[in-house]
Amino acid sequence: MLQDEAVHPADMPSADTPDPSSMRAHYRAEGIAESDLAASPYDQFGRWFKDAAVAGLHEPNAMVVSTADAAGRPSSRTVLLKAFDERGFVFFTNYTSRKGRELAENPHVSLLFPWHPLARQVIVIGTAERIGRDETAAYFRTRPHGSQLGAWASEQSAPIASRDELERAYEELAARYPEGEQVPAPPHWGGYRVTPETVEFWQGRLNRLHDRLRYAREGAPEAGQWRVERLAP
Ligand SMILES: Cc1cc2nc3c(=O)[nH]c(=O)nc-3n(C[C@H](O)[C@H](O)[C@H](O)COP(=O)(O)O)c2cc1C
Repeated sequence: MLQDEAVHPADMPSADTPDPSSMRAHYRAEGIAESDLAASPYDQFGRWFKDAAVAGLHEPNAMVVSTADAAGRPSSRTVLLKAFDERGFVFFTNYTSRKGRELAENPHVSLLFPWHPLARQVIVIGTAERIGRDETAAYFRTRPHGSQLGAWASEQSAPIASRDELERAYEELAARYPEGEQVPAPPHWGGYRVTPETVEFWQGRLNRLHDRLRYAREGAPEAGQWRVERLAP
């Protein structure tokens, strides 16, 4: 995680609050044509993800995950993409968090990658399913010790009395599992894999004549059949 490198607002020069109505970026001329697209949205995502990394974007794997409860009330938050291949897009979280509870009621989900410096965004719409415990455990073992303890210490999305309460829970766990000791993956924590129904690639262009090319799945996910349609910007 790169979070330690994030700039704190207190360290930035002070300035007036900017007026969002006067902010207007001019997007580039080069677009994306149907003939440029890879056969599968996973390969196309891979190309753009690589472009985002090569361009030096901060956390190009950060995506906005939107879920909705059984009544259709939406909620969004940023989450890190941890894997993708032809089976789907994987992220890790607490299964009892708000998003976890909503996904248990309603598996429909949207993932949005906001690659603003490239005037690009990718939107994946699909359904989320928990991954297997083995896959979760394998990923959990790769996390830094402190993050492993954090996953145990935090009852994500539940109100807590104070910051102290959180830090006390962490310290107790740190005493029980000192550095170097194997920490098991919490049963309430794990991965989701999102199987896409559509994947849209958006490229900003001049005069708001943006390119929007959307892959729509045809048939079962295993069939790997996609139709591409162009959407009006
Ligand atoms: C850059 C960034 C990355 C994040 N990555 C994750 C993540 O991978 N998993 C996660 O559960 N929360 C992550 N969070 C925190 C979530 O945005 C959110 O606060 C948390 O998951 C609780 O969401 P919920 O109450 O809607 O379920 C991240 C936040 C930011 C800003």
